[in-house]
Amino acid sequence: MSAVSVNADRYASLEYQGIYLRNEWGDVLFPDLRPDGAETSAEAEPLKPDELIGDGRPGRFYQRTAAITATWAEGLGITARRVCDVGGSTGRLLHDLARRLPDAEELVLAEPSAAFCTWARRLLLGEDFDRWVPMPGPTLRTDHRRVEPTCLPKPIPQALVYQVTASDIPRPEGYFDVVTCANVLDRVDDPAAFAGELTRLLRPGGLLVIASPMHFDEHYTSRDRWIGDVHEVLDPAYWHVDDREVDVRYEVWQTRRRIISYLSQVVGAVRRAES
Ligand SMILES: C[S@@+](CC[C@H](N)C(=O)[O-])C[C@H]1O[C@@H](n2cnc3c(N)ncnc32)[C@H](O)[C@@H]1O
Repeated sequence: MSAVSVNADRYASLEYQGIYLRNEWGDVLFPDLRPDGAETSAEAEPLKPDELIGDGRPGRFYQRTAAITATWAEGLGITARRVCDVGGSTGRLLHDLARRLPDAEELVLAEPSAAFCTWARRLLLGEDFDRWVPMPGPTLRTDHRRVEPTCLPKPIPQALVYQVTASDIPRPEGYFDVVTCANVLDRVDDPAAFAGELTRLLRPGGLLVIASPMHFDEHYTSRDRWIGDVHEVLDPAYWHVDDREVDVRYEVWQTRRRIISYLSQVVGAVRRAES
């Protein structure tokens, strides 16, 4: 049985798709959710929901994490030709990495959820669909919005979408220059073993950017495997870590009236040449 079928598709429900699509792509698909285009309300007007929540607006986490990744790669003199985002869900981080890493010849999305891969193919590769998108609605209901054709993201020719877990990415060991993995560490049964899979993917001198809000839950990870800091899974025998670390707000609308806000710990590590 493959790793994909073992990991039953927890994200297949419309509700989950709506949550992720809003959080990742809301600003791209729907101009009214775009922070830069937002009108400043007159003082007497009630605030729109998005104005209440600071900078955790749709797309922001991914824009920031892509920018941080590009800054760290540049600082290290890494030419990011082969890039992989592990557990990349519907593809927003990869979309922004494509903008920030202009040398990328190959941008691989590795995602075990079939439902998320379908969305990634639509939004990264330009696969045709009816333009209706689920969005978080009132409790127990999903809303649907139709994207204007002009708001669909431009297809990325270097992007590839694979429905696989980290251990089944169809590339040789040490293949990638840059690997990102955002908010996955606390959604696997063995975070340390999972980090080992990420190590395997990178070439010596390559950059791993790993982010986690440390929201552990026994549904995914038994309590004895919970960790409190990303550094705990970065074995110094394999990684130089230095001071590449920043907290980035990761905010998820679960329903129209339930917003969960995290600070995701984003850490950059360089694969040791000698390991
Ligand atoms: C909390 S979501 C985060 C998604 C996205 N990276 C983000 O930051 O919004 C966790 C993702 O990890 C994926 N995932 C779970 N186990 C995985 C594994 N072993 N290898 C790769 N991805 C995995 C899930 O399918 C899901 O898309």
